Order: sequence, then structure tokens, then C-alpha cells
Amino acid sequence: MELTTTHLGLALKNPLIASASPLTASLDSIKRLEEHGIAAVIMHSLFEEEINHEIHQIDHFLQLHSNANAEATSYLPSEVDFDNLHSEQYLEEIQRTKEAIEIPLIASLNGVSAGGWVKYAQKLQEAGADALELNITYIPTSIDMEGHTVEQMYVNTIAQVKKHISIPLNVKMNAYFSSPANMAKRFVEAGANGLTIFDNPARVDVDLELLTPLQRANITSSANVSETLRWCAILYKKLFCSLCAGTGIHTAEDVLKAVMSGADAVALASVLLTKGEAEAAVILNGITQWMQEHEYDSISQMKGSISLAHTDNPDAYERNSYMYALQQYRR
Ligand SMILES: Cc1cc2nc3c(=O)[nH]c(=O)nc-3n(C[C@H](O)[C@H](O)[C@H](O)COP(=O)(O)O)c2cc1C
Repeated sequence: MELTTTHLGLALKNPLIASASPLTASLDSIKRLEEHGIAAVIMHSLFEEEINHEIHQIDHFLQLHSNANAEATSYLPSEVDFDNLHSEQYLEEIQRTKEAIEIPLIASLNGVSAGGWVKYAQKLQEAGADALELNITYIPTSIDMEGHTVEQMYVNTIAQVKKHISIPLNVKMNAYFSSPANMAKRFVEAGANGLTIFDNPARVDVDLELLTPLQRANITSSANVSETLRWCAILYKKLFCSLCAGTGIHTAEDVLKAVMSGADAVALASVLLTKGEAEAAVILNGITQWMQEHEYDSISQMKGSISLAHTDNPDAYERNSYMYALQQYRR
């Protein structure tokens, strides 16, 4: 039984990737994920805001020193503690993790603008990351900001990050574009080697005790896999890039559906957070068992077999069967 796949040019022993989450912020968890069969790990994200905050701290420090006399330069100002810079710790984490595991390690940058922070991508590569994932989640709250401006901001950020690295770049897309397929194409033209379909951003809620809005991390279920399948199926073979199914993959069946829709790999967060790292082995066993029962020899054999390009029922991905699906509903 051949479970191997290629994603972002990386040879993976199977399609399961641990997505960025608190689990991938702990070396112990990452080692357990590897023990239980996970084929690659995406680190928790380093955020643009964290990098920019530190850049400002360092600028401020240098400013202070440029105005100080020679004797005064021996002290460190209290504003900045170089050993505790979060970004430096992140680089050390990549180095340490890379030494401790054998599977590919993907660093994760989370930001929205094409500012100076994107240079940090190069440091992540130098620290040993095998690839970089870029998560751009921008919430345009201004009613004057037009869609094309938002879209161009995404494209510019990808192009800027790409300039600083030679390792593969994966873009974690969100679904909130008028034309996700066209945005996917523009992301690949800007330099993305792979796309994750999709990110699942934190949800807004209201705390009725404190009377304040808040955001909560969003734990999914298999019920959330639908848009992932639809857009993997639509994009399969349309673009020169890898596809990773990124939301709602909880079971072996979800993985099989995603691969048949066209995904090269799947990224798991919620299922590993709620059931533990060992669930990766359960999912892998389920995949193998299903493949045996249905006489499949390899993952590549089933890849894209029910994508829009190959299915005998393309209506299922488009508007045509929407009315029918609603009319067929029975309690
Ligand atoms: C608690 C939690 C923390 C997360 N942290 C990150 C993060 O640091 N960076 C990121 O790009 N995505 C992050 N995500 C999103 C996941 O990587 C993933 O894209 C999303 O949860 C959808 O996958 P799932 O359906 O398997 O949960 C986080 C998700 C959760 C639930």
C-alpha cells in the first residue's frame, strides 16, 4: 500500500500534515505527532505584529544610543531584552525542532502587509525550515476599501515574501473572495508553490458578562469540510501548484474525499487538538483499511479522481444541483 505523496515539492510518507496550532508550539507534541505517523509539521505562526513590535523596540534602542555619549553605551535600556525577543525564540525553536525530527518542518508567518517584516522569511529559511507557510488574514473594516485593493494587498505580500526565500512557499488562503479560483491563480503567479484550502479564522463572539466582543479559536468538525472539497475539486490541475485540504479534515473518510477531490495533502488541527496526537495513527489505519477494501494500491491512483476535471457529475460543484439538493431534503 503506497501512501506517499508530494506536496510543495517535498516527498511525504503520507498525506497527513499537522497544521499550525498550539500542538505545533511544543517539541514534545511534535515528536508525538511524528511517532503517530504525521508526515510533516507546520509550526505555530510568528505574527507580523510581533515582528513589527520588536523592530520598533530595536529602532527605539538604536535611537537612544545614537544620542548617548560613548560611556553610556555599555548599558542596555529596559525597553528591549534581546534574549527574550519572541522572533529570536521562534528561530531557535525551528532549529531545535529540525534537529529533533526527521519529517519536513514548515515555518509559518502570519501577516497582512508588504512591510519590512517580510524579510523575516529569510531568517526562517536560514534556521532550517523546509518550506514556509504564509497566512494572510485581513479584515477590511473600512466601507471605502474596494475589493481590488484588498486583493492586490494579498498579492503584493506574497510577492514580497517570495523575494526573500528559495524554499517552497505555501499560501494559506481564506475563502472570502468574490472569485476564489481567480485569487488562487493570482497567488500562484505571485510566487505561491502551494495553496491551503482554506484557513478557518477565529470567530467573533460576545461575552455577555463583560459586555465585550471577543474572538475565539474555531474548533471544526467534519461538517466544515464541504467548501474544502468543493474548491480542491475546482482547482485540481488548473494551476501549477500543490493543494492542501486545510479545514474540516477529521476522519480517514475526510482524507480520502479530499485526495479524490484533488488535494496532495491534508492539514489537521482541530482533530489533533481534541483527540490527541495518537488520532493521526487511527486516521492512517482507516485510510489503509479503506484502500484495501476498495482495491486501491496508492494515494496517487485516487488523486483528483472526482475533481471537477474528472467527475461525471460536474453539476455537484456548481449551481445546477443546488436547487435539486434543497428540494430533496426530507426530515
Ligand atoms: C487553537 C488554534 C490555534 C491555531 N493557531 C494557528 C496559527 O498559529 N497559525 C495559523 O496559520 N493557523 C492557526 N490555526 C488554524 C489551523 O491551523 C487550521 O487552519 C484551522 O483550524 C482549520 O483546520 P481544522 O479544521 O483541522 O481545525 C489555529 C487553529 C486553532 C483551533
